[in-house]
Amino acid sequence: MALRSEDLSSIAPLTKRYLRIRRSTLNLCRTLEAEDFVVQSMPSVSPTKWHLAHMTWFFEQFILVSHSPGYAVFDQQYHYLFNSYYQTKGRMHPRDSRGLLSRPRVSTITAYRDYVDDHMLQLLRGNNDPEIGMLVELGLNHEQQHQELLLTDIKHVFSVNPLKPALIDSDAEPRPDKIARLNYHSFTGGLHRIGNDTGGENGEFCFDNETPRHETFIHDFRLANRPITNGEFRAFIDEGGYRQAALWLADGWAWVETEKVDRPLYWSEDFATEFSLSGMRELDDNAPVCHVSFYEADAFARWAGGRLPTEAEWELAADRPVVGNFVEGGFMHPQATGEDSTKELLQVYGDVWEWTQSSYSAYPGFQPLRGSLGEYNGKFMSNQMVCRGGSCVTSAEHIRRTYRNFFYPHERWQFFGIRLAQDA
Ligand SMILES: [Fe+2]
Repeated sequence: MALRSEDLSSIAPLTKRYLRIRRSTLNLCRTLEAEDFVVQSMPSVSPTKWHLAHMTWFFEQFILVSHSPGYAVFDQQYHYLFNSYYQTKGRMHPRDSRGLLSRPRVSTITAYRDYVDDHMLQLLRGNNDPEIGMLVELGLNHEQQHQELLLTDIKHVFSVNPLKPALIDSDAEPRPDKIARLNYHSFTGGLHRIGNDTGGENGEFCFDNETPRHETFIHDFRLANRPITNGEFRAFIDEGGYRQAALWLADGWAWVETEKVDRPLYWSEDFATEFSLSGMRELDDNAPVCHVSFYEADAFARWAGGRLPTEAEWELAADRPVVGNFVEGGFMHPQATGEDSTKELLQVYGDVWEWTQSSYSAYPGFQPLRGSLGEYNGKFMSNQMVCRGGSCVTSAEHIRRTYRNFFYPHERWQFFGIRLAQDA
C-alpha cells in the first residue's frame, strides 16, 4: 500500500484516523485469496473487491473531485462501476451484477486505493476547512460501515461454499460457559429525549438519520437483561414455532412458507453446528442467537410472551458505556455473556444487532444532508426496520447509543439478534 509510514506523531488527528481506518479495511482482507474477492453469493451481498473500490470511490467522488482542484480521477469508468445508489450522481452498474466484475483486477483496485489515499493525504496536509473535515469523517464512517458489510458478505460467500472456508482462526476465542438467567429490568416512561445533534453536546459525529434530538413519549416498560440465546431459540423451534401461523405476522408467515425457513440462517440441519467466520463450529446454547430476521424475532417474542422493544425504549435503556464484543476483539462471533448476574443489562452493545419493532422513518424535523449525500440515509425510510447496538463485526468506535441501522424485515445475513421487552 502507498500509505507510507510517515511519522504518525507529526500528523494531524484526522489524517492519522484516516490512515488507521483505511489500513484496518485491508487488514480484514489479509487472509483472503484473489478468487475470494470476486464472488457475489446473493443480490444483497457485494464482492469484497467491490467494497474496497466503492469505499475509495466515496472519497474520490465526494471529496477529491469537488474539493481538490486539478484532481484527475483514477479511471472514468469507475464512476459507473462503483457508485452504489447515488442517482443524482448518474447511472450505476446493477447491484445484483457486481459479482460479474472479474475486471478490474484486485491489484488494480489496490492501486486505486493507493492513488486516492495519496491524494487524500495531500489534501489533508495543512487542511483546516471544516467542510472537508466533516466529509472525511463521513467517508471514514462510511468505510467502517462497509468494513462490517465486507465481513457479513464474505461470511455468506463462504457459507455457500461446500468447503466451508474460514476467514479467521478462532482457537484463541474464549468460550464462556456462564449465562445470566433471563430477567427483566423496569424503566419509567414519560417524556424523554432521544436522537442526536450533529456537532451538538459533545461535537461527535453522527449520521443525519439520528437527528434531530427530540422529545418522545415512552410508556413504562421492561427490557430483558440480555439477548435471547441459541438454546432459548432452539426451544421455540422444538415447540413448533416455525409451524404455528398464529405466532407470525402475515408477511412473516408468507416468508416462512415461501422460503421454507425452519431455523436461523447459518444453523446446520441437525441444529448441532453453525457456520461462522472461523468455519463450522459447535452451536453454543449460551451464546446469543444470531442471523434471524425481524419476522423470526417478532414471532419468537410473541411465543415467549413478550415483544420487541421500540427504538426509543432501547435508546433510553442503553444509557451506559459502549463496551462489548466488537470486531476489534477479533472473534467475529457472538459470545455467551460470561456473567451470571441479573442486576445489569448485558450485551447492550456488540455481539448482535437487536431488532426493534420501530419502522425506519424520519425523526420530527429531520433534514437530510445537502446535495447527493442527502441520498445516504433519508431515501431508505420506507419498509425497513430499525436495529440497535452494533454487533461482533461492528467497530467499537463506530457505534453509539443513538445509532440507527435499518434493514428489510426478511433479511438475515447481518448479525441480527433478539432482545425482548414487555409492557410494564
Ligand atoms: Fe456505501
